[in-house]
Amino acid sequence: MIMKICGINNFYNRNRVSCQKQSAQEVSQKGEMTPQDIICVRISFKSGCDHSTYGGYRTSFFRDLDTLNTVVNYLEKTFPKGTVILDYACSSGKEALSLNMLFKDRSKYKIKGFDISKNAIDYANKGFCGIYSSEEFLIMPEDSIEDEPKKELSNIFKKFFDGTEEGETEPFYFFLKCFGKVKVKESFKDNVSFALGDINDVHKAAKRQKVGAIFFRNAFHQMFYEYFLNDWYYSGDHDAKINDIIRKIYNRLEPGGIFVTGDCYEEHIINAWTSTPQEECREVEIEGKQKRILKKPPIHKALENQGFVPIYSTPGKVGEIPTVWQKPM
Ligand SMILES: C[S@@+](CC[C@H](N)C(=O)[O-])C[C@H]1O[C@@H](n2cnc3c(N)ncnc32)[C@H](O)[C@@H]1O
Repeated sequence: MIMKICGINNFYNRNRVSCQKQSAQEVSQKGEMTPQDIICVRISFKSGCDHSTYGGYRTSFFRDLDTLNTVVNYLEKTFPKGTVILDYACSSGKEALSLNMLFKDRSKYKIKGFDISKNAIDYANKGFCGIYSSEEFLIMPEDSIEDEPKKELSNIFKKFFDGTEEGETEPFYFFLKCFGKVKVKESFKDNVSFALGDINDVHKAAKRQKVGAIFFRNAFHQMFYEYFLNDWYYSGDHDAKINDIIRKIYNRLEPGGIFVTGDCYEEHIINAWTSTPQEECREVEIEGKQKRILKKPPIHKALENQGFVPIYSTPGKVGEIPTVWQKPM
């Protein structure tokens, strides 16, 4: 029934097209990439992996759902009259759109998505989204989804998106198979917008409006950490820049406002150098390998020094990862 209303009927099966496998080199040679795109492609070459796994623009609908639900519940309780939410590093927009779907009264919360990549913002503004493997259930017929929570999410999703055959799949996911395309319904666009923006300019965003939450998820590593022989390292050279960003975020937030960091491994698990003093490190086992990592990654240090307090942690590969940080009331 819902599938019919939304025009998603049969769209799941018809549209199981695979993205043409295209090397990152071919894409960059077309001259369609911004400097940020090239960095992402470099990361993929460095890692020898597809760049959707390491860095790049990887995002998906309802990524780290527990954190998103925590944020929505917190904002509804703390700012019941509504606020602005700044979603930096929004990539193709799926994070902002997911948040919007989770609010009970969406009209109160304005979500402004920003990304440094023009490609990502152009794509987000078109309102089309490719659906990849982790999100495939969202467009499956209701009766073929066995898992109840997934069924519920899929039903929410279908209220906001139409199945479509128009539009391109995300240009960044040239290694991934696309299971279908969806288009944002017009009525759903009112309180979400996308524009080019750098986290370094967060202090200039949404002037004269009250900001209750700032997101900058799964992008810190692209700016400040080094990928080397399958691990992420920090040179120690960017403390001043990291502190400056965190200070701007803190000042931009209302008292009681929250900053949301990413859930990915590379944002929080930073390898220690052999020269790093033992008291600053801890030993962990990751995928069967013993590793020596920094007890406190630079982003946590900067947040704590600024006065942020972690209020929610999400389960990660190596214990809990603090993703939601509160500016005290
Ligand atoms: C891995 S995606 C994260 C997408 C989304 N936040 C999520 O967690 O699913 C990283 C995004 O960060 C963006 N980015 C990198 N540096 C940035 C900066 N200085 N300001 C804003 N966006 C940035 C990239 O263009 C890319 O789209």
